[in-house]
Amino acid sequence: MARGRGAQSQAARRDDRGGEEESREEAGHRTRARGQAGHRAGWCGPGRQFAAHGPLSLAQAATSGSAGRGPAGDGAWLAAAITLSERAHGRTAPNPNVGCILLDAQGHVAGRGWTQPGGRPHAEAVALAQAGEQARGGTAYVSLEPCAHASPRGPCCTDLLIAAGVARVVIAATDPDPRTNGAGIARLKAAGIEVVSGLLAREAKAAMAGFFTRQRLGRPFVTLKLALSLDGCIAMADGTSQWITGPAARVHAHVERARHELILAGRHTVEADAPRLDVRLPGLEDRSPQRVMLSGTAPPPDGWRGLSHPDDVKALTGGDHLLIEGGARAAASFLRDDLVDRLLLYRAPILIGGGRPGLADIGLTDLASAHGRWRLADTRDFAPDRLEVYERVRAD
Ligand SMILES: NC(=O)c1ccc[n+]([C@@H]2O[C@H](COP(=O)([O-])OP(=O)(O)OC[C@H]3O[C@@H](n4cnc5c(N)ncnc54)[C@H](OP(=O)(O)O)[C@@H]3O)[C@@H](O)[C@H]2O)c1
Repeated sequence: MARGRGAQSQAARRDDRGGEEESREEAGHRTRARGQAGHRAGWCGPGRQFAAHGPLSLAQAATSGSAGRGPAGDGAWLAAAITLSERAHGRTAPNPNVGCILLDAQGHVAGRGWTQPGGRPHAEAVALAQAGEQARGGTAYVSLEPCAHASPRGPCCTDLLIAAGVARVVIAATDPDPRTNGAGIARLKAAGIEVVSGLLAREAKAAMAGFFTRQRLGRPFVTLKLALSLDGCIAMADGTSQWITGPAARVHAHVERARHELILAGRHTVEADAPRLDVRLPGLEDRSPQRVMLSGTAPPPDGWRGLSHPDDVKALTGGDHLLIEGGARAAASFLRDDLVDRLLLYRAPILIGGGRPGLADIGLTDLASAHGRWRLADTRDFAPDRLEVYERVRAD
């Protein structure tokens, strides 16, 4: 999709909600801020991530006792493989976004790979192709158990690793896909390869949350984004909402869009604001998600897909990550049905007072049951604003 391509070069253009034209001064300010925020956010590099875990926690886990068994360094290499997997985030459905680092027998990096757009080739195949003969006697670090099933779309990764003569395979998460689930590990072991598994499994699952959510709950991983004042408003009483947050936070919100295949708004937002909901970051315009309108009464506009009830999200194909960007009733409907996995709260240091609340009724009957549902997973400063990331607490 190329929606929005070329829009960056225009000094003045319509904002997300199709509202007033942006001034040249604002556009210039936004462009400068984009550069700064892009650097801070790391949207063009692999080292910073926006998964439920933060990069710091991943680095800490990699080097701490929680990295578990295995020779020193396994945790750090596996963490690097998980970081690589983020490059494929939102591009590989229905396959998982996997990362792989291959060391030669002397411990030097011989290959690096991540799942390619559309799901093939797999990360291991990419890394092995880079390494060639250097893979023999080496170690493969993979964020997910290598696949054990044959596919008309490509080779089976356990066969590739065995054929390449790899001596060790270090795996973060076991593949929940019943076609592989443990069979990849068993085949590697049967071929005489040393296998270590379970290291940084939680971090790897967070990086592949879309795939794991689809496997476990049969639906995409759902993120709700809200831009709020300190007192929880998304707009003035008269509906004015431009702008609650500053340029840096808005750039980051576009980074998040680029990590999603699907983006949703309620009918009133679509009708009132005609939002574009595309990615307007240089070089990432083709990462704009497919737009979905929630409505029980009206068909979606041209270029949009329709959803007549939040529960129908299970039938939404074409991606494993859905971002909800408004409005208050659509967001509340997803929360009421417990279909939100992550909250992105961009908080601006302003008070509105008597404004429009970010959420409609979510069906809460007693205050006690509101507690224990959300866990703070990450925070970021996008001066003058602050992002808080919360993840839904669910039993494993
Ligand atoms: N400040 C911001 O960042 C921001 C962001 C987005 C939106 N907004 C503002 O929010 C306002 C719109 O919010 P809103 O709460 O009035 O409307 P909304 O959430 O955009 O849309 C409400 C509509 O969504 C559909 N819907 C909601 N729950 C549903 C369910 N369970 N099943 C089927 N359809 C369902 C219904 O459509 P049907 O009636 O067709 O069934 C409902 O009328 C706009 O003024 C917009 O400017 C602000």
